Amino acid sequence: MGDVSMQTKPRRSFASDNNAGVHPSVMEAMAAANDGHVIAYGDDVYTARAVKKFREHLGKDTQVFFVFGGTGANILGLKAATQPHHAVICAETAHINVDECGAPEKFTGCKLLGVRTDDGKLTVEHIKPLLHEVGFEHHVQPRVISISQATEMGTVYKPRELKALASFAHDHGLLLHMDGARIANAAASLDVKLRAITRDAGVDILSFGGAKNGMMYGEAVVFFNQKLAEDFKYTRKQGAQLPSKMRFISAQFEALLTDDLWRRNAQHANRMAQMLAAALAGIPQITVTQKVEANGVFALVPKRSVPLLQKKYFFYIWNEEKSEVRLMTSFDTTEGDITNFVSLVKKTVR
Ligand SMILES: Cc1ncc(COP(=O)(O)O)c(C=O)c1O
Repeated sequence: MGDVSMQTKPRRSFASDNNAGVHPSVMEAMAAANDGHVIAYGDDVYTARAVKKFREHLGKDTQVFFVFGGTGANILGLKAATQPHHAVICAETAHINVDECGAPEKFTGCKLLGVRTDDGKLTVEHIKPLLHEVGFEHHVQPRVISISQATEMGTVYKPRELKALASFAHDHGLLLHMDGARIANAAASLDVKLRAITRDAGVDILSFGGAKNGMMYGEAVVFFNQKLAEDFKYTRKQGAQLPSKMRFISAQFEALLTDDLWRRNAQHANRMAQMLAAALAGIPQITVTQKVEANGVFALVPKRSVPLLQKKYFFYIWNEEKSEVRLMTSFDTTEGDITNFVSLVKKTVR
């Protein structure tokens, strides 16, 4: 089954926070939810409790819809806000632009306008030039600014940066969408509440990530703008993202949002990234290329060393030409993983 080379990749890796397993408390919550029959499709006590948790964190009139995965959350959240003649402005490096196989374009019909950035973060200055042709029928009409928090480059928007983007968006009739696959890592990094970088910053639609922070699967599409949520239950079903056994996603979110498990997991992953970056920065042949603000480390590694390192600790090459690699940490990365990997790097690049 599958690609044999994939099956023989080493077990511990810095490839992705998706490569980690499930946090034991999340697993326990799933097992506890595995108790007899409940009504399917979300009309159950686990879902009611999970939605309540979301509202405690994000505000009481928050609309929450659970879905299977992050791509599904992004494309349906964007669909709720757009028509096919609209455009979605995002960073060139955004997951929606490069890692969703064209699904956002297919499902929304919108053109994505990818903007080149140094660090994965959009600013008002990036967006202004794209609004020159508003109202001109020959051009797509920008409707949404989509940002990732934390970004695909491991950087994090500060609340004031988010507020600047949101108020610019709203002043120009646009909406702010946030791909929060790593929202927990961002909030932990800034040491703020989840709502400080979402609702309170002016975000309209949020994909709230679970899988990268200790869940087995499941994400949430969250609306702070009530109107956008009105027909979303139909959009979710039509988009094949309505989970029948929803209680198992709900139970996971309830566990994650209880007793700050979400924050503890993210803080740990972030701390491991800091430790990794600091150790790599001390090796003369290695250059860390991005600020390490969440759980990703980007580094230039001598080309000949990459395959040797990948044999022991798998990770992905981010930029082949530059020999830049991406190293992701997760809630279960250990200090031993870091010290073993770093000593391997030291030996390999010599
Ligand atoms: C920034 C970002 N958004 C969204 C996703 C969601 O992806 P998936 O559809 O695999 O859950 C990912 C996964 O890697 C991601 O890195």
